[in-house]
Amino acid sequence: MRTALTELVGVRHPIVQTGMGWVAGPRLVSATARAGALGVLASATMTTQQLRAAVREVKSRTDEPFGVNLRADAGDARERVRIIIDEGVKVASFALAPSEELIAELKDAGVVVIPSIGARRHAEKVAAWGADAVIVQGGEGGGHTGEVATTVLLPQVVDAVDIPVIAAGGFRDGRGLVAALAFGAAGIAMGTRFLLTSDSTVPDAVKARYLAAGVKDVTVTTAVDGLPHRMLRTEMVAALEHAGRVRALAQAVRRASGFRRISGLSWSRMVRDGLAMKHGKDLSWSQVLLAANTPMLLKASMVDGRTDLGVMASGQVAGLIEDLPSCAELVERVMAEAHEALGAVVRAERVKGADA
Ligand SMILES: Cc1cc2nc3c(=O)[nH]c(=O)nc-3n(C[C@H](O)[C@H](O)[C@H](O)COP(=O)(O)O)c2cc1C
Repeated sequence: MRTALTELVGVRHPIVQTGMGWVAGPRLVSATARAGALGVLASATMTTQQLRAAVREVKSRTDEPFGVNLRADAGDARERVRIIIDEGVKVASFALAPSEELIAELKDAGVVVIPSIGARRHAEKVAAWGADAVIVQGGEGGGHTGEVATTVLLPQVVDAVDIPVIAAGGFRDGRGLVAALAFGAAGIAMGTRFLLTSDSTVPDAVKARYLAAGVKDVTVTTAVDGLPHRMLRTEMVAALEHAGRVRALAQAVRRASGFRRISGLSWSRMVRDGLAMKHGKDLSWSQVLLAANTPMLLKASMVDGRTDLGVMASGQVAGLIEDLPSCAELVERVMAEAHEALGAVVRAERVKGADA
């Protein structure tokens, strides 16, 4: 299936595995790339040295194109962009809208720039600045998310910009791919579905929590870092939602020191990053700190398997996912379902024609 996405990045299938902190590492990304879809490394939770090593590891496992996701507001975004350029990475994906200068620098070096956005005006802005495509995440998507559902946001953005639009939020199968194409998208991007594969390094106990979740076990909370964040509803989330200001600050400081140790970031840098995430919102100090160490909370579950302590970012679609295929099986299945769904649409159209 050839679409503007497959042409733009040189993959066989119009499917993206999104950058997910602690989840989208070299193993998942190279398995996705080998399956013919676009894998995206999550770099926000890596130091710059780790990023370079991870990129080299993917390159040692596959010659297929892949991408790197980074936070446009990170203090060292420029350094990360340099690594992407030096290492010849095909795609730069951004968690927030990157600046015009960053886009220009990447494009001058031949890197395809695909920011993730959650609102039409952001899509218009990055398109005007020269982004090559956008990933549009509807409210049902996992991680930081907006309020507008994919079925409403996607056609709105498709109508507003003339660059390829990739649909994200709530996708897991071929029917979803065909629906996205019908809305005018060039492909789909999936987070939660790729997290739940046998190639993902997320501990089994954590995968089991996702598989057991129903649609209503996925919630949006601002209690972690002040921004709407979609995740599994756990005891930890309930505790944070009910903690008073003082307890919340104490917890935040404890977790932030843990993150500081493993990330090598200074306190001032963490507070700066936390403040950058504020986005003009009225956050308490504990939320500023939590914003800076949300990665630590994600690590507790995604790496250490602590379902009791960690944040398990998740799309609503977790409620519909029941198995752990390999990336190759998943991509093959999605494409087979998509062809079947397209066939069904064509048949329905023919029956309609014959009846007329
Ligand atoms: C565990 C997890 C971690 C995530 N981390 C990031 C991240 O570091 N950067 C980013 O741009 N998006 C992140 N996201 C959002 C995903 O990239 C993607 O847009 C989203 O999962 C799509 O919705 P879906 O889960 O319904 O497929 C994360 C999502 C999940 C589930």
